[in-house]
Amino acid sequence: MKDVDAILFDFDGTLWDPEAEIFRAHAETFLEFGHRLPAEVWSSLVGTIGSDLWTQLERVTGCTVDRRELQERVHRRQRRLLGGLSGRPGVHRVLGAVDALGISRGIVSNSTREWVTRYARQCGLADGWSTVQCADGDRASAKPEPNLYVAALASLGIPAERAVAFEDSPSGVRAAKRAGIRCVAIPNSMTAALDLHEADLRFESFEQVDLPGIIGGKPMRQASPAARAAAAPKSPPGGDAAAALQHYYYLPDDLRVVGGEGVHLYADDGRRFLDCSSGTFNLSLGYAHPEIVEVVREQAGRLIHVTSKFQTEPLNALVAKLAEVSPANLTRVHLKSASGSDANESAVKIAQVHTGKSDVVTLFRGHLGQTLGMIGASGAAFRRTPFPSHLPGVVHVPDPHCLRCFYRQERATCGLLCVERINDFIDYASTGRVACVVLEPISGNGGNVIPPDGYLEALKKLCEERGIVLVFDEIQTGFGRTGRMFAADHFGVAPHMMTFGKGLGGAGMPIAGILTEERLTGVEGHHINSTFGGNVLAAAAALKTLEIIGRPGFLENVRDVGAYVLGRLRDLAARVPFVQEVRGVGLMIGIDVVDRDGRPDPRLTNHLAELGMDHGLLLRTSLYGHGNVLKVRPALIMTRQEADEMCDLLERLFLSVS
Ligand SMILES: Cc1ncc(COP(=O)(O)O)c(C=O)c1O
Repeated sequence: MKDVDAILFDFDGTLWDPEAEIFRAHAETFLEFGHRLPAEVWSSLVGTIGSDLWTQLERVTGCTVDRRELQERVHRRQRRLLGGLSGRPGVHRVLGAVDALGISRGIVSNSTREWVTRYARQCGLADGWSTVQCADGDRASAKPEPNLYVAALASLGIPAERAVAFEDSPSGVRAAKRAGIRCVAIPNSMTAALDLHEADLRFESFEQVDLPGIIGGKPMRQASPAARAAAAPKSPPGGDAAAALQHYYYLPDDLRVVGGEGVHLYADDGRRFLDCSSGTFNLSLGYAHPEIVEVVREQAGRLIHVTSKFQTEPLNALVAKLAEVSPANLTRVHLKSASGSDANESAVKIAQVHTGKSDVVTLFRGHLGQTLGMIGASGAAFRRTPFPSHLPGVVHVPDPHCLRCFYRQERATCGLLCVERINDFIDYASTGRVACVVLEPISGNGGNVIPPDGYLEALKKLCEERGIVLVFDEIQTGFGRTGRMFAADHFGVAPHMMTFGKGLGGAGMPIAGILTEERLTGVEGHHINSTFGGNVLAAAAALKTLEIIGRPGFLENVRDVGAYVLGRLRDLAARVPFVQEVRGVGLMIGIDVVDRDGRPDPRLTNHLAELGMDHGLLLRTSLYGHGNVLKVRPALIMTRQEADEMCDLLERLFLSVS
């Protein structure tokens, strides 16, 4: 004779398992705001979904959060993550068995009825319940207090001793027990390590549930600690590998990418995105360019890497080609860098050794890399905040951002005061021993700032008068991004040294280096060599990239498509209240986003980038300066048709928020 007339199930975490995904959504959003949300914090809140999470998170993390901003972002992330979840494995079998035995079943949840109904439907668990009890905003009857169970039992007319509750968390188990109900614990990925000893019985999954044993009146016993330990997941909570990533230091976005082609990227859930940022502005030929794939495949079969002590055919051909396509005065090529940051550091070293001086002048908002040296040089102090030491002797000077001129000048009458004032910075803020000025000819991360006519020319003149080496960082602007081989070509100003990286790899092969004038010698190779510098595989890809960029019509297409995109985006800007300016050259375009009062609006900028994903767009913003610029820098192979697709999507995105 059975002794169970009703089984009550907790919904969240028991019948379906959203905790890990919700944790991910919160943890990733917290991280964007500079707070790390450790898994332990979440574990302490497990079983409280549906109550006021923000208050609780603030309490346990000790940090105050901007709720409106966070909530919106978390919810969007969360919706995406939860949309793919279904019931826990084995749950349908157990519910079917409960029904077959004629036992009533009900849901007892501290979530709202709306939430439970929606997700029960999504999981195919909507039917067959004798009662559904939800807290629905009434905190007094939230489940850690046992009265929801009591209410459920009353509505079923079943005494507590003839009921069993299925729970996943300590708070749920405790509440059921306090209502006098026997309790079965089935932990999920987030609660597996929590103390569920108060439950009468524990199964690790629904697949293990022994229903006849439970209803047949066998005494309920705890699994032994050894058996529990054996059943506990070895990987961090989160279940699958991607969820487990939340426990590592670096949190990736929730998008899981399976492949890309041209300007498009594909996710594992079938979504297709148009990548407005060509990776990290480095996929100049887009994803999986067939000629790059072919040349890499072919070269890999012959030689992938060799110490840079020796010559190889791809490297010999590449250095000659780089010297050929760059400004005529740049005749020496160093291909020993492992990254753009590394190339910039080496450029500084070369200038320091050549001049025998130390200081470096760079611009506000400039981005020169992520190494300790280059965060010191970059023009955004937040990059340096967590680190006690970085490159000494750096002098930051205002950038030529005419829209928001540091000196409150008008371009027509300013007389390039921003160059003139650099003399004062050198005289009063440096040691007087300036080795080099390093700048991006058009700022990438700093907001797509294009210097006014005459700026770079005047700067070069200043450098030459004062014996300073002028270095252009063309890591983002180089190799066709602006519709010319280098941004320097637009201004007709050749620097004394130029660093490059990113786009040279074509479809993502890592390569970076430096072009210098003949006179800038004297640094020993070992000071600027990196193990993976001059990688043969990357050199083969780079050579092919230069060949493709050099083909007739290639750069012309970048200029044409770029001008077309610029025009369409400027039209769009006139139809929404939040774009102050669209500026750019070639396919290096920035959209300057402002609030109602015309002030830079980084929040809206980030919101647009995030919302862009719902419209099939991958957009990047910037943490630099005002952080209010959406970057439109797709692969240079973009066709007019793809440009239309991108602009249509941007139009839909912008109109959806205005
Ligand atoms: C202009 C510029 N310089 C330097 C760097 C650093 O390059 P890397 O990330 O390859 O070290 C970047 C990267 O974003 C960049 O945009």
